Amino acid sequence: MRTKLFLAFMFIILLAVLSNIVFERLIIEDFNDFISGTEEDHIYWIMATVEGSFKNGQWDRQVLGEALHWSMMLGLEAYVEDMSGARMLSSTEVHDGMDPNMMERMHSLLKLPSGIGEFTWYPLYVKGEEIGRLYIRPLERLGLMPLREEIFKKRGREFLLISFLIAGGGALFLSVLFTIFLSNPIRRLTRSAEKIAEGDFSVPGPRAHKKLKDEIDRLTDSFNFMAEALRREDSLRKHLTSNIAHELRTPLTVIKGNLEAVEDGIISDPNIVIKNISSEIDRLISLVEGIEDITRAEASFFRKGKLEEVNLKELIEGIAEGMKKIIEGKGLYLKIDGIAMSVETYPEKIHIILKNLLTNACKFTDAGGITIVWGKRPLETGEGFYISVEDTGKGIEESDLSKIFDRFYKGENSGGKGLGLAIVKELAEVIGGKVEVESILNKGTRFTINFYPK
Ligand SMILES: Nc1ncnc2c1ncn2[C@@H]1O[C@H](COP(=O)(O)OP(=O)(O)OP(=O)(O)O)[C@@H](O)[C@H]1O
Ligand SMILES: [Mg+2]
Repeated sequence: MRTKLFLAFMFIILLAVLSNIVFERLIIEDFNDFISGTEEDHIYWIMATVEGSFKNGQWDRQVLGEALHWSMMLGLEAYVEDMSGARMLSSTEVHDGMDPNMMERMHSLLKLPSGIGEFTWYPLYVKGEEIGRLYIRPLERLGLMPLREEIFKKRGREFLLISFLIAGGGALFLSVLFTIFLSNPIRRLTRSAEKIAEGDFSVPGPRAHKKLKDEIDRLTDSFNFMAEALRREDSLRKHLTSNIAHELRTPLTVIKGNLEAVEDGIISDPNIVIKNISSEIDRLISLVEGIEDITRAEASFFRKGKLEEVNLKELIEGIAEGMKKIIEGKGLYLKIDGIAMSVETYPEKIHIILKNLLTNACKFTDAGGITIVWGKRPLETGEGFYISVEDTGKGIEESDLSKIFDRFYKGENSGGKGLGLAIVKELAEVIGGKVEVESILNKGTRFTINFYPK
């Protein structure tokens, strides 16, 4: 990645150099064109003046002299011939007749007119009739004039060099920035991926907290989700396997013990054996069902179900209605207490959570009853809600409070599998809730789930 970025920026710098060279060529060419363009303008101007010196079929030597004088000042040597080929006037003659001051000035700028060299001729016209020819050639310039042009060209080159340095420096700076912002998060991702590949799921992935997420942030999010999924899967596999082995051992040992007792003649009544074995098999079946339930709850991390806008009061009333028969059948009351409010949640999951909490409350309460309370819970992060299930039952020992959510943990006389609360906790967390428990021994227990806004 870094090498590719580096190569890409080198390529940009190379392009900048090339464009600089082409640009420089073009500018110098344009400048030369400009110089020769002005030279042409000068020639036309001299031609017009020379033509102006021909009046009424006669050359005005005074005006002609001035025209050739000016042509010399512009760096051009010239002479004029009439139609018969006779030389009317030349720069050499004009030069010889100049006053000494002017002559000196000219000597500092130009090589003197000699009449020798390659002249170009131009036809001269007056009123459409050819009157003669103007012969012209550039004089070699001395001193300051060519120097100025050189200075201009040098300046041009310096300017291009500076612009190249700025562009090249900018490209280099950008390449460093890109490397930091682009390749660093990817390097972190790669490192985390390598850790996971080695079987270490404990390392948290790189964080992408930004609100405005770019592709890399989204990639990081997906990676973190995947890493979390793998971590859960791994811990589920480890825990479940050891828990299941442990849970299976008890009924299987009892079955084996019963069969051995028959073999050894210790138990002679086959009905007792059949009853014992059958009840252990029931335990095994319910254990398998429980494992299915908890696996489903774990899997809901991947399949949350449908997020719906629901009326919480109606949802809870519906769930309570389903449990009413069992609760009231035990001689307990079931109260619900909350306002009508609309929440965004996963009703299916809420259903399973409440059913488990109500079943527990009913199972561990002998007198009094159960109350379901719910309401809004304003939080710093926004508006959340809570649901709690209270009972007037036997309560939980303080030392047990930390264990009740563990898989397969069950209290005395539970008769269950010890999976209900593990499922409640798992599902609540999957849909963004957190379970709390408060309990006073022999007075009652309250389970509260706080749902935080997304
Ligand atoms: N409302 C409650 N009052 C008193 N004790 C409770 C209450 N709810 C749970 N417990 C204690 O926590 C233990 C774990 O509960 P959990 O629901 O996980 O398992 P279970 O009810 O024993 O079995 P399962 O739900 O799998 O049929 C229970 O065995 C019980 O000791
Ligand atoms: Mg239970």
